[in-house]
Amino acid sequence: MKLTVHTNPAYEILIEDGCLQQIGRQAKVLLPKAKRTVLVTDSHVGPLYVQSVKEALEAAGFTVFVQAFPAGEQSKNLQTISSFYRAFAQAGLTRTDFAVALGGGVCGDMTGFAAATWLRGIPFIQVPTTLLAQVDSSVGGKTGVDLPEGKNLVGAFHQPALVLIDPQTLATLPETFFADGMGEVIKYGCIRDKAFFDHLCREDCRRWLPEVLFTCADIKRQVVEKDERDTGERAILNFGHTFGHALERVQHYSGLTHGKAVGIGMVLMAQLGEASGITAPGTATQIQSLLEQYGLPSSSPVRIDDLLPATAYDKKNSGSSIQLVLLKTIGECLTRDIPRTELSALCEALR
Ligand SMILES: NC(=O)c1ccc[n+]([C@@H]2O[C@H](COP(=O)([O-])OP(=O)(O)OC[C@H]3O[C@@H](n4cnc5c(N)ncnc54)[C@H](O)[C@@H]3O)[C@@H](O)[C@H]2O)c1
Repeated sequence: MKLTVHTNPAYEILIEDGCLQQIGRQAKVLLPKAKRTVLVTDSHVGPLYVQSVKEALEAAGFTVFVQAFPAGEQSKNLQTISSFYRAFAQAGLTRTDFAVALGGGVCGDMTGFAAATWLRGIPFIQVPTTLLAQVDSSVGGKTGVDLPEGKNLVGAFHQPALVLIDPQTLATLPETFFADGMGEVIKYGCIRDKAFFDHLCREDCRRWLPEVLFTCADIKRQVVEKDERDTGERAILNFGHTFGHALERVQHYSGLTHGKAVGIGMVLMAQLGEASGITAPGTATQIQSLLEQYGLPSSSPVRIDDLLPATAYDKKNSGSSIQLVLLKTIGECLTRDIPRTELSALCEALR
């Protein structure tokens, strides 16, 4: 299955079992002047997949250098980016060469950022290996790193030259990370596609994984094409994130992981919408039972009054207002800007 993302520049997303093996051939066609590449990966993914990806690149005639970093969000910092720049320098990457991100969202975001800034921008290929990266972070060109002051504070828009999604790589992904990605998968059903949501309810997604990945990547494609630089419609991808991020923050990023926190955030936002008469009654319960079906928590371990102060750090805040992404019903969403001072009153039904 193939999708073309019509951004500037446009690129393809290929979703196919075993497509990792195609990386050399595909890169040769896309980047005919390239000679060298740095293959960036993390300490968990490297031992599993580096060898075959490296061989596929070498078979196409590229000289391949491998750069690995310790797996995990703690590595997503400027020090790791510096180590990438040094690897790029030692490999002698020129502006016609390219980088490859082989791993989850942490690897993709950092490799993309290093590629965006090395020699003011070189191409990079995304080879996402987590569910979250396959359905979300590898598409759309948002790249970046964390600072001690906050997540993703430094970054750049830099679209990949190609996204290769091999569903088979998810076979080695630990269950907890799979569940995390499911938070985002369910989100796509909520904001855009009721039939997809219903299918997730009816049939375990592992039985039709390539189609699940395709549907999610396609929804992300449509949204990104309309709003490449995140100034409008792209905000709908943040459904569940206002309270989700707040939950992560109050637990100092060591409690619920992102996808699980977003799942709870979606339930809270649906409850808020129902109480305000915007969301169809029963929507929150439907989301809750789907989250539970996929092993995700469905109610907040933190009281709403303890979450509210943490929403002040939401990136979608502007001035004294906050942007909420609400559902009309499953599959249809809308955004509302409300004064921050009204948020507490709107949350009355969640107390
Ligand atoms: N750019 C975007 O649009 C965007 C969107 C959403 C999230 N993000 C970012 O994504 C990051 C989270 O991504 P993530 O959840 O993929 O985390 P991650 O990259 O840390 O991967 C999670 C874990 O899974 C391991 N792993 C990856 N693939 C594996 C495989 N196939 N088999 C075995 N283990 C594997 C990794 O080593 C890691 O330990 C965050 O930093 C977040 O900010 C970016």
